[in-house]
Amino acid sequence: MRLKIIGSAAGGGFPQWNCNYKLSRAARAGVSGIEPRTQSSLAASADGRGWVLFNASPDIRQQIALTPQLQPAVDGPLRSTPIRAVVLTNADVDHVAGLLSLRERQPFAIYSTQEVLRVLEANSIFNVLDPSVVPRRVLPPDRETAICDGEGRETGIVVESFAVPGKVALYLENTSDPQADFSSDKGDTIGVRIANGQGGGSAFYIPGCARIDAGLRARLAHAPCLLFDGTLYTDDEMITAGVGQKTGARMGHIAMSGENGAIAGLASVAISRRVFVHINNTNPVLDENSSEHAAVRAAGWEIGRDGMELEL
Ligand code: MLT
Ligand code: MN
Repeated sequence: MRLKIIGSAAGGGFPQWNCNYKLSRAARAGVSGIEPRTQSSLAASADGRGWVLFNASPDIRQQIALTPQLQPAVDGPLRSTPIRAVVLTNADVDHVAGLLSLRERQPFAIYSTQEVLRVLEANSIFNVLDPSVVPRRVLPPDRETAICDGEGRETGIVVESFAVPGKVALYLENTSDPQADFSSDKGDTIGVRIANGQGGGSAFYIPGCARIDAGLRARLAHAPCLLFDGTLYTDDEMITAGVGQKTGARMGHIAMSGENGAIAGLASVAISRRVFVHINNTNPVLDENSSEHAAVRAAGWEIGRDGMELEL
């Protein structure tokens, strides 16, 4: 199975359009060791011909332009795509807005939880993807589903989804509810285990996760590969940077560092390869020459980059 990280940044991308924080500024200026990144998305293929996208980011047009494997075959029909399906891990803007760029009556399939599909249904703009051409299919939790294209042919990729602690999309938050839970596991945010249906490699993809509990640790034990929520290095990073009021916990994202962070939480779990993705534009690891970048690498993690390929 082949995986390609086509977008390794969190919502907003890197640099973010309106951001003048030192990291976005450096990325814009082309400072060496600080690479720009597009918004959160992963592509997987069992046969190297058909691809399943995991999340459709607002940068999808640029991502396809930079990824020959996702472009129409030179000898293909007049209208065609190797993109067979899109699996959504939540309804955040950075994960669903790219669907709108995939209009043009091109068949493919959309898979997600009932909760996320309900959000698409409630937003009529997504009707540009006519469900009779682009079917929407429920991804049932905790069992393997063979991902099929818009016409029902298997892609060779199988996916097992599972709820992870997280929250509803920002635009659906009930901000007046003081009891709101930003770390619930009700299906608003999922992780997925992606595998080749013919056997062979597999990987976990969890771009949003509010905390690591015993259940998640057990699930990830002996995984060949994990692509995990690397939004923030420290929980209060956006406040310290002066760009926002929210902690990672409030946004449904665990931090990399700290005793409750991802590095510590997964340190004792046997995972062969661990890669951070969904990296926010305030995260100091984006600077390859930072002490935080070195600390993350020393802890055995890789920092996801756009275009990074993994063979499993
Ligand atoms: C998130 O991951 O928290 C969201 O993508 C934030 C957003 O919608 O900008
Ligand atoms: Mn996001």
